[in-house]
Amino acid sequence: MSLQGKVAVVTGGGRGIGEAIAHVLAARGAAVAVWDLDAAGAEKTAAAVREAGGTAIAVPGDAAEASAVAAAATRTRAELGPVGILVNNAGTTAYQPFADISEDAWDRMIGINLKGPFLVTKELVPDMLAAGWGRIVNISSSSAQTGAPAMAHYVASKGGVIGLTRALAVEYIDKGITVNHVPPGFIDTPLVRQGPVDVDAVAATMPMKRAGLPDDVAYAVAYLASEEASYVTGQTVSVNGGRHLV
Ligand SMILES: NC(=O)c1ccc[n+]([C@@H]2O[C@H](COP(=O)([O-])OP(=O)(O)OC[C@H]3O[C@@H](n4cnc5c(N)ncnc54)[C@H](O)[C@@H]3O)[C@@H](O)[C@H]2O)c1
Repeated sequence: MSLQGKVAVVTGGGRGIGEAIAHVLAARGAAVAVWDLDAAGAEKTAAAVREAGGTAIAVPGDAAEASAVAAAATRTRAELGPVGILVNNAGTTAYQPFADISEDAWDRMIGINLKGPFLVTKELVPDMLAAGWGRIVNISSSSAQTGAPAMAHYVASKGGVIGLTRALAVEYIDKGITVNHVPPGFIDTPLVRQGPVDVDAVAATMPMKRAGLPDDVAYAVAYLASEEASYVTGQTVSVNGGRHLV
């Protein structure tokens, strides 16, 4: 599954799942633009990809803010060329009972997790239309498949990502662009480690008795980004260790 000659954007590539996606896509030959709010994280990932023999640039910026997205796209095109692969991975989470979710917290969550992918996709899809080839992979969440307590804003934002995936898959069905989503289950990343959950205790309750690894998600993304996945669109590739057989 070579991605040689392709340019990929990975939002939130500075750590966690996005970092693993950047590495796996680069290992398959893609030139990767690591977009992240955290400039140091983006540079760390890009430098590690280059050390491993790949091509990557760090593009610091907010993937949920229109002017920053436009600037990031301009830099990416100038340094790597038109973008063929987009992984909308940047996201955040929060744990709050529904009654405690403020309007601001709601807007922030939807802004980062759903408006972000809207803005970035809108910015980059013209490159794919011009090439007659594109791969969009959205990172959703198993919580939007099953529901989850004390995360209504997060679950709603990720449900929106699933809807966006299906809508764009249909809209671009005959344009050489596929649009799919990967809902991770419980993946051991800094995001999860920073939350209130005891990662090791939860991992022990998983069917496979372990949390997922960022690489587990990255390999699914690499497949969906490949030429070989050209007849797969609008689909869900769940990476959850059999936790939710849906
Ligand atoms: N870890 C899990 O168990 C899990 C489960 C389901 C879904 N997900 C989803 O996977 C994605 C990655 O999660 P993770 O666990 O690796 O998180 P993480 O917090 O470890 O990494 C996320 C990265 O995204 C960046 N980021 C956040 N907001 C951004 C913005 N507006 N613009 C640019 N960069 C931004 C952060 O700086 C960070 O480097 C998220 O969309 C998350 O919702 C994670």
